[in-house]
This record gives sequence, structure tokens and C-alpha cells, in this order.
Amino acid sequence: CGIVGYVGERSALDVVLGGLRRLEYRGYDSTGVALVVDGSIASAKKVGKLANLDKELAEHPLPASTTGIGHTRWATHGPPSDRNAHPHVSADRRVAVVHNGIIENFADLRAELEAEGFEFSSDTDTETVTHLVDRELRGDAPDLTEAVRRVCRRLKGAFTLVVADGEDPGRVVGARRNSPLVAGRGEGENFLASDVSAFIQYTRSAVELGQDQVITITRDGIDVIDFDGQPSAVTEYHVDWDASAAEKGGYEWFMLKEIEEQPRAVADTLLGRHDTQGRLMLDEMRLSDDELRAIDKIVIIGCGTASYAGMVAKYAIEHWTRIPCEVELASEFRYRDPIVGRSTLVVAISQSGETADTLQAIRHARQQGSKVLAICNTNGSTIARESDAVLYTHAGPEIAVASTKGFLTQLVACYVLGLYLSQVRGTKYGDEVASTVAELEKLPAGVQEILDRGDEIRSLARELAEHRTFLFLGRHVGYPVALEGALKLKELAYLHAEGFAAGELKHGPIAVIEPGLPVFVVVPPKGRDQLHEKVVSNIQEIRARGARTVVLVEEGDTSVDPFADVVIRLPNAPTLLQPVLATVPLQIFAAELASVLGHDVDQPRNLAKSVTVE
Ligand code: G6P
Repeated sequence: CGIVGYVGERSALDVVLGGLRRLEYRGYDSTGVALVVDGSIASAKKVGKLANLDKELAEHPLPASTTGIGHTRWATHGPPSDRNAHPHVSADRRVAVVHNGIIENFADLRAELEAEGFEFSSDTDTETVTHLVDRELRGDAPDLTEAVRRVCRRLKGAFTLVVADGEDPGRVVGARRNSPLVAGRGEGENFLASDVSAFIQYTRSAVELGQDQVITITRDGIDVIDFDGQPSAVTEYHVDWDASAAEKGGYEWFMLKEIEEQPRAVADTLLGRHDTQGRLMLDEMRLSDDELRAIDKIVIIGCGTASYAGMVAKYAIEHWTRIPCEVELASEFRYRDPIVGRSTLVVAISQSGETADTLQAIRHARQQGSKVLAICNTNGSTIARESDAVLYTHAGPEIAVASTKGFLTQLVACYVLGLYLSQVRGTKYGDEVASTVAELEKLPAGVQEILDRGDEIRSLARELAEHRTFLFLGRHVGYPVALEGALKLKELAYLHAEGFAAGELKHGPIAVIEPGLPVFVVVPPKGRDQLHEKVVSNIQEIRARGARTVVLVEEGDTSVDPFADVVIRLPNAPTLLQPVLATVPLQIFAAELASVLGHDVDQPRNLAKSVTVE
């Protein structure tokens, strides 16, 4: 979910709606706003996207106010509906609450409140908070800050809350445990939001909140206490994202802009991380060389697209460093009693830095004594803060729900990490670090070359638009690329798409091949061992069964031409780096197909960009 709070001199409604528009990628099942007006709360909420709320507000305008909160929801408790949309306002219209997360003990709290005569008007866990805060204010809580603090102490689970009191204009209170919340410090105005994109057009000065803290914003200041009521120190930081980075800049969809930004994002992620001799320099690495030398196992965790970056990382890191490397979905890792200890390095990959599955997994790993290194795109995010070290990807804000530049930069960061480990540990591969760095430096131009030929892929998407099933095959690092290609198509075009390890095809999936079925195949570069030949044989196997083959293969390699219905050429790169190039046509394909089918490319149905529930 996305949350905004504002106190200042501007129209709170404009600021809050503007913020929600930038946060809508976090969830879009319903949206709502609440304003403090004449000693009470005025609110509006609507199921569906923000446009529905805009319409509602045009028909039934709210009075002017300079204090307000807002919410865009990704449903957990209670289906998306007007009734379950946030804010949840108390019966006396004194208290309004927006919430992100899950309150695990809500059933007990609700029973307690109902026994006292409180009436519920939604199915949400959030509404319990509204009544609890209302009860405190009607009792002896001196102000909203204290009321929220007392209520937080009773809540179990993960939450970000932002609350307004109709009788206290000029104050908005937020609280967080395990869910994201940042504050923006302005002049004569202050902001609360799930992430900085909601307020960067007004201020670049951000305040990072810690765990279990209550924050109060007024026109003149920001005040933070912990759940025991003690004042808390906070970290302030400057947001260096350009405000326009979170704008569409003439593109129809954020995703198209983000795909086009990839050469830059890849280059930025390499920038300053090696010297002219190709020696890696990771000044930001908070793990000492001794700690890195002591590692005897690496476990890489992530969710969705990030987990595929992790699969590529395994191939590269094991090859370069000879350190055994496992990859696992964070949600699986957490609850199966994994074997990790003091000499295990856990690498957590997350664009948002807020994914609850990944966060819980790193907490578990740290409890077992492991060091955790995060590969993350979001400064100040919870995963970045709770890890022992962070290697930031420099993709800039990624707004489209399905990841594109986030993924490519995660791959690059994984390569940088692998090469750095190899350099520090002096493994046999150590001598080749510099030559691989030189190859990495060629990737931005390679990605650009593919983008320049994007029209070919777009017309292919239009040609194949009537198909309802697609297969993607790859081997070695081409396998995670196949999985990512299929995932993009599922996410964006809602089609049945599956990725398989090409060698595994004959052990089952080949049965689904029928004449005309489009199958994408990622062919590894020629040269190293027999990998290339094996994939070419796999293409022949499916071609023999009538599949329509779309083959991604490097320039100059004509060996597949006889078996390919469509050839997509990739610039030359070493096998391990090829995913950075091979993924790009698949992103373009999925985005175009989704758009031909009339889907919302940036905000696919049922998804949210950062899933802050487990
Ligand atoms: C959500 C998004 C996916 C993303 C995954 C991991 O499910 O819809 O696109 O890959 O989260 O996100 P993260 O921010 O941890 O990389």
C-alpha cells in the first residue's frame, strides 16, 4: 500500500493526491483521502484506481484543508471495495487512519471493541486501530501522539499507520513497525509517505524512521519517539533523485521509460566501482576482507524477479570464486529451518528494500549469526538498514510494478560482488577480474543497441498477439532469463507463459509443444564447452514438433538460422554476462503485447510493487 500525510500551508488534498499518484504503483485496489476540516474529518474513498477517486471528488468536492492523509491500497484483509478502502474514520468522525501491513491480533482487538459497543463498518484489520485511537482520545490521552503510541503497544504484526485527529488541525501522526515510512522536511510544511517519491517535488530533505517509532509532524517540526515514549534520534538524508526521474517524461508508460533508461542504469551501477586497471573498489563494503575470506557458503535470497537475478549470480559467483552458492526464494528460505551460520554470507536482493518475505528471511539469517549483504535500489529502506552491508544498484526510481531496470542493475551488482569476492580471496579466477570488468563496461552500449532495434520486437509482439501460451527456454544463465521472460509475460499480459531449462524439456514439458506454439530460446554464445551445441539441439527438438521458434542469439552466430522462425540478434558478450542483454528483448516483447491487449502496463491487475506482507 501507499501512504501519504501532510501538514502545511498548501491544499492538503492536492499534496496528498499528488503523492498518491506517485505511490499508486504500491497498490491500486482502492484509494482514499481524509482532511481535517472544522473540528472533524472529511473523507472520500473509492474502489479501484485513483482516477475513480478523482471522479468522486469532482462530483462531491471536499472542503479546503491544510492537513490531510491518503492511502492507495493493496488488499489483504477484506476484498477491494468502497467500504474496505482507507481511510477508516471513527463513527464520531474524529479519527481517520490509513494503514499498510497486517495487524495479526486484530480479531481479539475487534472482539474487545465490539464488546464495548463499537460498531465496525468494514472487514479490515485497520478499523480496529481507528476505534482504539478514538477510545484513547475520548479517554485520558492528552493528544493524538500519545493515543497512537499507546495503541501501537497493543498491536502485533507489521504496520505503518498515519492518523489524523479532527479536533487537532495541524498535526498528523505516523508510526511504523516492519513497514516503510519516511518523513520529508519542508519549510512551514512537513510530509509523511511510504517513500520519498511522494514528496520530492516539494523537498529533498528526508528523515529516515527506525523500527517501533511514532512520528509527529506539524507545520513547524518533526518529532520522533519510540513506543515507550522516549525521544528517538533520527537520521536525515538528502534525496538525490531528480524529481523528474519519477515522471513519465513523454512515455506512455513508466515501464517503457524504465526499459529505455537501462543503459544508463547499468552504467551508473558500475560507476566508481573499479579503477582504470579494472580492480574493483567497493568503498561502501562494510564487511572486512577478513570477513569475506572467512565465508564458506553463500545463500542468495529474493522474490520474483530479484530471485532470478540471484540464479544468475549463483552461476557467476561459483564460477569466479568457487564458493558454494545456493539460491532460494526468500519465502521458502524463512520457514524451513535453513542451515546458515557464522561463515555463511546471505545475499538479499530487493529493488524496493521493503519486501516482507525477504526482510523476514534476512532477520532469520542474522539471528543464526550470518552476515547479510543486501543488493538494493532504495536508500534508507528497511532491508538496506537491517543488513550488515549494502551494495546499492543505481537504477533510480522504478515505478512500473514489474521490474526491468531494477533487474538489470541487480545482475550488474551481483557480478560486481562476485568479482570483488574473487579479488579479495585471490581465487584462481582473480587474474581475469580486469578483463571481465572491461566486458561489463561494454554492456550499456550493448543494451542500447538492442533498444535501437526495439521496433522489430514490437512488431513480433503484434504478430503473436493472438497466442495464449508462450514457452521460454534457456540453459545455464539463459535459464533464469527464460524464467524472467515468462514472468514478464504473465505479469503484464496475463498470459500463460512458462520458462524451462532447455535440457529439461525432453523430460516432460516437450509434451505440451504443438504446431504453431511460440517458443523463445536463449542461445549461449559459441565457444565455451558444449553448452551452445546442446541448446541448438534443443531448438531442433522443438522445431521438429512444430513449435514456432524465436531465437535469441549473438551476432555472427548463424548456426541456428535453419531452425529459427525468428532470429533476435544480441551483441557479443561472455556467457555469464549475456543475461543483461538477452532479457531486454523479452521485456520489450511483454510490454508491447500487454499494451496491444489493452492492459495497464505499469499497474498489472492483482500485483503491487512492494509487497510488505508475508
Ligand atoms: C513484487 C513485484 C515483483 C518483484 C518482487 C520483489 O512481487 O510485483 O515485480 O520482483 O515484488 O520485489 P523487490 O522489491 O524485493 O525486488
